[in-house]
Amino acid sequence: ATGTEPPSLGTGVRGAGRAAIAARHLRTDRWWLAPAATAAGLFLFVVYSTWRAFADSHYYAAPYVSPFYSPCLADNCLTMRQGPNWELFGTWWGISPALLILVFPLGFRMTCYYYRKAYYRSFWASPPACAVAEPHAAYSGETRFPLILQNLHRYFFYAALLVAGILTYDAVLSFRDEDYAWGHMGLGSVIFVVNVALIWAYTLSCHSCRHVVGGRLRHFSKHPVRYRLWGWAGRLNHRHMQLAWASLISVAAADFYVYLLASGAFADPRFF
Ligand code: FES
Repeated sequence: ATGTEPPSLGTGVRGAGRAAIAARHLRTDRWWLAPAATAAGLFLFVVYSTWRAFADSHYYAAPYVSPFYSPCLADNCLTMRQGPNWELFGTWWGISPALLILVFPLGFRMTCYYYRKAYYRSFWASPPACAVAEPHAAYSGETRFPLILQNLHRYFFYAALLVAGILTYDAVLSFRDEDYAWGHMGLGSVIFVVNVALIWAYTLSCHSCRHVVGGRLRHFSKHPVRYRLWGWAGRLNHRHMQLAWASLISVAAADFYVYLLASGAFADPRFF
């Protein structure tokens, strides 16, 4: 090869020009463990979030609104005065409010560079692990529909900034009591603050964020502020996978906590 040939698409690992190795892989370690664990974790989250999104109930326990249902855009948020931000958004639609809002965080995570790697490996085995051949005969990467839509990630990042801002607003509102008097703090306030911190850390560790703040510059020396921001985004980006999981778990935990309160399982422990 001279290095000047056009990229060969649709050939797969058995295609011309690839090493002729009959075995599917030569690895001797338990390479399947990581994709199997990833598949199990993502599957659990999908089952849980689907149940909660369609439940259309138990998403508000004053002063907490579930992050799955915030901002509460649907009609029943107004008529049932569900959630602290119903008065901001008014009535829109009669279906589960979560279905209106989850498309944005879901789109952000579905197109995320880390999650792409995770589900390409764990659900599509494309490839299942480093140096393990995939079962598919052809490979076109993300050059065709529908995977070319992964390029929308940049726009989902902008939407995710808005969502993180709204969850921050909810976390601030959680420092009230059931009668909306300020200056109170319960276990829910702690859970909400931890969740929103992890959501921000995950959002700002996004590869698109790193490019937004530091990309397309010819000279970092002429843009010291952006250079500094780029450095911070890079440090967070280094932990992107960990933050993806931590924030996924925390957002489900915050929702489940609201569910437990709203369904009457116990009362929110109050610190003051
Ligand atoms: Fe993962 Fe942007 S790359 S959120």
